[in-house]
Amino acid sequence: MNARKIRDRIYWMGSVDWDRRLFDSLIPLPDGTSYNAYLIQGSDKTVLLDSVDPSMSGELMTQLKDVSQIDYIVSHHAEQDHSGAIPKVLEKYPDAKVITTPKAKGMLMDLLKIPEKSFMPVQDGDTISLGDKTLRFIYTPWVHWPETMVSFLEEDKILFSCDFFGAHIATSDLYVTDEGRVYEAAKRYFAEIMMPFRKIIGKNLEKLSSYEINMIAPSHGQIYPRPEFIIDAYRDWVLGPPRNTVVLPYVSMHGSTEQMVEHFVSALVDNGVRVEQFNLEVTDIGKLAMSLVDAATIVVGTPTILAGPHPYAAYCVFLANALKPKTKFLSVIGSYGWGGRTVDVLAKMIPNLKVEVLQPVLCKGVPSKDDYQALTDLASAISQKHKEHDFV
Ligand code: FEO
Repeated sequence: MNARKIRDRIYWMGSVDWDRRLFDSLIPLPDGTSYNAYLIQGSDKTVLLDSVDPSMSGELMTQLKDVSQIDYIVSHHAEQDHSGAIPKVLEKYPDAKVITTPKAKGMLMDLLKIPEKSFMPVQDGDTISLGDKTLRFIYTPWVHWPETMVSFLEEDKILFSCDFFGAHIATSDLYVTDEGRVYEAAKRYFAEIMMPFRKIIGKNLEKLSSYEINMIAPSHGQIYPRPEFIIDAYRDWVLGPPRNTVVLPYVSMHGSTEQMVEHFVSALVDNGVRVEQFNLEVTDIGKLAMSLVDAATIVVGTPTILAGPHPYAAYCVFLANALKPKTKFLSVIGSYGWGGRTVDVLAKMIPNLKVEVLQPVLCKGVPSKDDYQALTDLASAISQKHKEHDFV
């Protein structure tokens, strides 16, 4: 794709990666992604904001073929999907200075072997003049690594946010036109890479609230011409209370745990609790992560195998512990053949979750009448807990 004009002497550059289906060899990308770089030509100086994934560096260099001078390359974030083509850019513009945080400087030297002499580290709040345009650098750690910052083009009131506010979407639309579609993609993205750092992200949102932002230009997905749409969504995901929702990831071997799940889901619904049910044999882990953003309760359904939880359930619980959702309650349901330590094993896997563990329901073999009653009671207890907290 060719460079695209956003404003006078401000251009989108980069690549739309229509085919990518996995990020970090982990995160499903059902809609592909993009790596957005931006070029700003001030009256005196020219700056390139971020670059692209190294696999797409040829496209960026083609977009730069008629750009004779770049004075600065801003690296908001050291991860290679944005920084990976900086060495190529420096080959063409060897005198360009790489502007970044001191922490990112060290990471870029380690990850990309960029020489120390190429760097110009900046402090939080520093500005550079491009002549008639001014770029301010704002430290925003943990969106998504510890070294991250954003930059604000003061005259045009554009926030260049890199991963912050991003969404994995491949599209030829430069600007957000379908907010519903972007909401889903941005929430999935938040769940997978931002949720563990929620508290710090809340502080970053607070920090940005003093800026009058007319447009947000992230480095994945589309540009937000109505920034309050994504800022409000982030406020809700980060600061809002959990919802009256149970996330129910489960796996069943011979059908007993599945029968328990079916009964339990009906009981929850009868008690006015929303349910998001995921069969771990087939589920999209990104969708499950999204549902963790605002669910008040997680209930894991697992049979006992090799004296512990099914590995799919263990994987799911490991992921939930790493993502640190704002969940308040957790329980386990499932069937076993002769015994085991399923609940103990799972309980040791969740040190990061600040949850109250509700009485698990484990049954031997096929669920009995008493087991079904225990599931009904668990659903009722969850409903009561949600009501006490006014979760809606
Ligand atoms: Fe888009 Fe954390 O890289």
